[in-house]
Order: sequence, then structure tokens, then C-alpha cells
Amino acid sequence: AAIVEHVFHVKNVLVKPLCKDQMIPAVNGSLPGPTINVREGDTLVVNVINNSTYNITIHWHGVFQRKSSWMDGADMITQCAIQPSNNFTYRFEITGQEGTLLWHAHTTNLRATLHGALIIRPRSGGPYPFLKPYKEVLLIFEQWWDMDVGLIATRPAPVSDAYLINGLAGDSYPCSKNRMFNLKVIQGKTYLLRIINAALNKHLFFKIANHNVTVVAVDAVYTTPYVSDVMMLTPGQTIDALLTADQPIGSYFMSISPYNSANQGSSVPPNTTTRGLVIYAGATSASPVVTPSMPGMDDESTAHRFSSNITGLVGGPHWTPVPRHVDEKMFMTIGLGLELCLHPDNTKHCLVGGEQQLSGSLNNYSFVLPKTISLQEAHFYNVTGVYTSDFPNEPPLKFDYANFRAHNDSEGKMMYPERKTSVKTLRFNSTVEIVLQNTKIVTSESHPMHLHGFNFYVLGYGFGNYDPIRDERKLNLVNPQMHNTVGVPSGGWVVLRFIADNPGTWMFHCHMDVHLPFGMIMAFIVQNGPTPETSLPPPPSNLPQCTRDPTLSES
Ligand code: C2O
Ligand code: CU
Repeated sequence: AAIVEHVFHVKNVLVKPLCKDQMIPAVNGSLPGPTINVREGDTLVVNVINNSTYNITIHWHGVFQRKSSWMDGADMITQCAIQPSNNFTYRFEITGQEGTLLWHAHTTNLRATLHGALIIRPRSGGPYPFLKPYKEVLLIFEQWWDMDVGLIATRPAPVSDAYLINGLAGDSYPCSKNRMFNLKVIQGKTYLLRIINAALNKHLFFKIANHNVTVVAVDAVYTTPYVSDVMMLTPGQTIDALLTADQPIGSYFMSISPYNSANQGSSVPPNTTTRGLVIYAGATSASPVVTPSMPGMDDESTAHRFSSNITGLVGGPHWTPVPRHVDEKMFMTIGLGLELCLHPDNTKHCLVGGEQQLSGSLNNYSFVLPKTISLQEAHFYNVTGVYTSDFPNEPPLKFDYANFRAHNDSEGKMMYPERKTSVKTLRFNSTVEIVLQNTKIVTSESHPMHLHGFNFYVLGYGFGNYDPIRDERKLNLVNPQMHNTVGVPSGGWVVLRFIADNPGTWMFHCHMDVHLPFGMIMAFIVQNGPTPETSLPPPPSNLPQCTRDPTLSES
């Protein structure tokens, strides 16, 4: 195994995806940022030099970080941010996984421009569990705002101006016609598409006119080959898929468009489909150009069919059978409520710009990031007062979550979640099962839930309220897909299972960036195992420290 070294210079640069130059923080001057190529078993070393004006961390999304939780790059969970004019070197091994992942900033909205691919190929000589493709092609989908990235976080969140494919907006927007992603193919050849949804807040449909693709991996886990004419990726999801140029010589558009189950009934707003072009060698300007017809923005059944039909590749590289015994069962509600102002009589609600603030919660706790020391340092050094260990295994109220009626919640228990820094402690090596129940308390939308440090088996998906008597026996314990991120359908549920065999502090959160400041986060602390090899090592000596004034009141 090799040591792969990179230097990430983060600085503000001018880019122009649409009509005007826009200053953005970028790694090594490019949007998307540099691609990291490793082989399974390699050690990755990335020196992040922050010459931007922002506090940043870099997270290696989906990487297991075995015994290297300090390198996870989760702001205020595993480290304080790297401040301007400072640097920090991430160093960790990448073992037990292969496929396409991504790296991204893990500080408020900076993920919008600080992201790139992390490609893990099999150990030298190791083949893919599918026919060797002629070429590999990277497709990074991004969401673009023609404004200062600092402003994206304002509430309510401003609507984005474009989607980009590999930094290019294509012909659907003003000024970008000549900036379209072109994929040149040779008829008869097969290409491995490495697809990343790096959009901050949007699930995306992806389609290539007249072509099917064969999905072979999701979230860097091999799947049973799955043929589809359309794909759906939640924010943070990655898919490896084979594309065979099996159509008549010509040009075919590829399109991405948003999927948002919250917008049921409404039509797709203009300028939200971004196109790239697949051009066959030998195509002339007279060759036909075919456009794919995209699913509607609210096409829940297409999204659900694609997400739920994929199965894991039993017996493939790194496959392990589903553990049958469960040590810890959790039922977790996820959804948006409203923020209760701490008004003297506790009845008035927050009004900001005439709008009540949304508050995201898991089991009715809305997570507040620590301010002066990371959660993991507080855990490691036994610093008290930073967090509580009372994250509940169930929500405080049982009712019809999928069809929320406010009158069932007369005390506003689920409507106004409690703001807390609450963690769930897990025993080393315990098997955890979580039923995620999406509530429709304020909005109805799919939330892409992402777990740091582990992949989980997705045992089942469904709509409505999870019913153990009806649904448990339908769970797939044989060949479920494994993910690090799963879209939990609007007013629906997902059952996942994982083995807590990696000591450290791990975030579990919605991967729609806009829901992070709302508190749609919780954290697991996985305890040490019995030996030094199964224990969290001390932090690196140069781990960034917070210098934020602890007396500053939270904003
Ligand atoms: Cu891709 Cu916690 O994030
Ligand atoms: Cu969400």
C-alpha cells in the first residue's frame, strides 16, 4: 500500500459559471476541487492550508476512519475548525471499501464550493467485480448560487441559480451556453461513470437520453448490477454506473433536475434542468440531438423505485453478512418543527423577517454544536458540561407521525423540539438498529440521513408509519444495500443496521446542508474496546483549537 499525499491550498478565487465573476473559496483554485485517487489500503495525507477568509474543516465523506476518528473533519464534533492562515494535515488509512466517495468542507455552507471526488480503486492487481470499462468518467453535480457563499445560510435560504455538471452550467441559463460538459464516447465501448451529488440541498434525478445505465456501486459499496434509465441521488450520495455507447452515432443530452417530494403538485420551476452532452465519435452536426424527458420534480414513485430496488452484492469484495442479533434498538423521528423562543411566558414563537424559524430534530432533540471544544475532545478528556448522554431511544410522544395533526400534540412537544447537545453512547461492537421515521410536522420532504464512520445496511423502506408487526418480516436481511447516506421518504421510514466497531464520536445528520444549522443532527459516541488496538488513540498534537470567545453569546 502507498502513501498518497496532497496539498489543499484553500483560497478565495474568481469563477464565472453564469454571467458574473463570483468570489468563492476553492481548493487549489478549481470548482469542483481536485480529485483524490487512492487504492484500498493506502494511507492518504492531505495538508489543508487555509488562506481563505473562512473557518474550515475537510470531511472525507463515507470513509470509515478506522481508529482515526480525529481525522473525520466534522466541525465541533471531532475538531475545531482550521482558522484563516492556519493549516492542519489529515492522515488516515483507507481500508475495507472501494468505489467513489467525496470530500467536502464540513462548516456551514462551505461545502457549496469546497468539494471534490475521492476515488478508491481495488488494491493493485485487484479487478472490479464487473467487466473492465474502457474508460472512467467523473460526473460531479453541484448547486450554484450567484452570490457570496456566506449569504447562502441566510434564512429563509435563497433559491439557487443553477445546477452544474463538473462546474459547468450548460445551456439552460444565461451566459453559460458555451460552458457545457461534453462526454465524448466511442460506439460500442463501456464507460464507468463515477457520479457524485455534491449539491448542498437538492436530491437530483439524472438521465441520459436513449441510454440505460447499470448501477454497480452506491456509496462505495458494490451492488448487484441494476439496470435503469434514470437515477436519483440524494445530497452526498455517490453512484458508480456503467454506460455502454450502444445507440446510433449521434449526440445525446444528459440532464440533471431536482427531486423534491415537498413540492408535491407543483411543476418544475424553469431553469432547473442542467444539461451536458454525450457525443459519439463520428457524430456530425447533422446527427440528431436527443433530449431526455425528466421525471417531474415531485415524482416520488420514480425516486422510490430506483432507491429501494438496488441490492447488495453478496459475496462481492468487502461484503459482510447482515448481523442477525441486535443489541440496541432505536426508533428515531426525523423532521422539521418550529423554534420556540425563550420568551418569558414561553408562548410566543420566534419571528424572523415575519417567518417562524424552522427547527430540525431527531427524537425531538434539536442539536446544538459545542462552542469552545469539540465533542470528541470533551469525551476524550472528560470535560463536563459540553454535552449530555441522554439521547433517547424513542421520541417523547407516540402518535400518527406520518400524518401529523397539531391537535394530537397539544403541548407542542413535537412541534417545538428542545435544543440540546445530546449524544447516544454505544458499546463497542454492539449491533444497532434504527427505524428512522420521517414526520410531516411542518414540511413534507425526504431527508437524506448520513452517518459518519460507518456504512449501514438498509433493511427496508416504506411509506406511512413504521409498523413492526406488518413491516418487520418484510425486512431484507439477505442482500440489502449498504450506504452511508439514505433518503428517508417524506412521511415514510427506513430501517438501518450497523455494527458500532469503531471507537470515536460520529455525527448522524441530514445531508441537506440547510438543515444542519436547524439542528437536524445527533452524535454517537462509540466506547473503546477492551484493547489498545480497539481504543480511540489520543488526538494529534496539532489538532486545531477553538479560539472563539466562549463569552460570546450564540448567534
Ligand atoms: Cu458529507 Cu457530515 O457529511
Ligand atoms: Cu433534512
